Amino acid sequence: MDEKKKVIFSGIQPSGNLTLGNYLGALKNWVKLQDQYDCYYCVVDLHAITVRQEPKELRRRTLEVLAIYLAAGIDPEKNTIFIQSHVPTHAEAAWLLNCYTYTGELGRMTQFKDKSSRYGESVCAGLLNYPVLMASDILIYNADLVPVGKDQKQHLELTRDLAERFNNLYSPTFNIPEPYIPEAGAKIMDLQEPTKKMSKSSDNPNSYILIMDPPEVIRRKISRAVTDSIGVVKYSDEQPGVKNLITILNAITGMTIEEIENKYQGQGYAQFKVDVAEAIVNELEPIQKKVNEILNDKEYIESIYKKGAEKAYYVSSKMLRKMQKKIGFIPVSK
Ligand code: TYM
Repeated sequence: MDEKKKVIFSGIQPSGNLTLGNYLGALKNWVKLQDQYDCYYCVVDLHAITVRQEPKELRRRTLEVLAIYLAAGIDPEKNTIFIQSHVPTHAEAAWLLNCYTYTGELGRMTQFKDKSSRYGESVCAGLLNYPVLMASDILIYNADLVPVGKDQKQHLELTRDLAERFNNLYSPTFNIPEPYIPEAGAKIMDLQEPTKKMSKSSDNPNSYILIMDPPEVIRRKISRAVTDSIGVVKYSDEQPGVKNLITILNAITGMTIEEIENKYQGQGYAQFKVDVAEAIVNELEPIQKKVNEILNDKEYIESIYKKGAEKAYYVSSKMLRKMQKKIGFIPVSK
């Protein structure tokens, strides 16, 4: 008998154009894991509206993110690819989980603290509750593994706490999901301020590489990336800019840190930067071509997200019903 595959859930917000950080921290690993696991890969548009979005841009980006998933190599025949707002169980289960979450634990989330200090008065309740929706995403598929970058680790811990809390209050209901954080690329840094995470919401376009940046833009941004005056290609905390570029090269090519340091010994940064830029271009250019092809085929995209939503709804409804029953709600029918 076939052993049942373990389940993966992960998602990316269409809240900005995707960066190399999203690619190396998440997407590239999703592709690697797709054969071993039963994977649900979602475009999390409900999360994106926790900060104001322009409707037209949100629509464009949602489809672009989906096309990027496909172009990066996620096989729609093997995986469930869908848009979060198409599957109402996510928001419904999030409401239930909200009633088992303490406001204190949400207020302690680093990402909430960062964002709320940035947006001041206009922080909406959704931003505080955001990690509960993320927990719902994961738990309603009974996911075993969640491949994410390092910045999501704290949200994963909250997810595990909520799952345990629910299991202890009622009876075993949820798996306790594990994060999968890659060894290389878990935290790609800002190219201009390399002590900060590379982020799609940064105001300075030179601080990030977008998955859809044309080759000449990638080359320019890498040539302008902040380094230092030491002049040695070394993986060291004293050289955060260089360390970040080494990480990028390591995550893309698989060359080890030692191999990279040895290769550029005594050469300064010029050739090193050229090679980092070329590695990124070689990785992203084929993906960009496919994204554009896919985006031109609206029917194809629609067929994928429709099929994905049907499967996701079918699977997640079972878990939602289980939660409702344990809480004490009356079933509509047996
Ligand atoms: P989001 O949209 O901010 O980022 C998507 C994924 O990219 C990773 N990431 C990075 N990895 C390395 N270096 C970086 N500079 C970098 N920036 C982003 C993130 O860790 C993430 O894996 N809350 C999530 C989306 C989400 C989700 C979920 C994820 C919603 N529900 C359920 C997993 C499971 C988020 O905002 O990711």
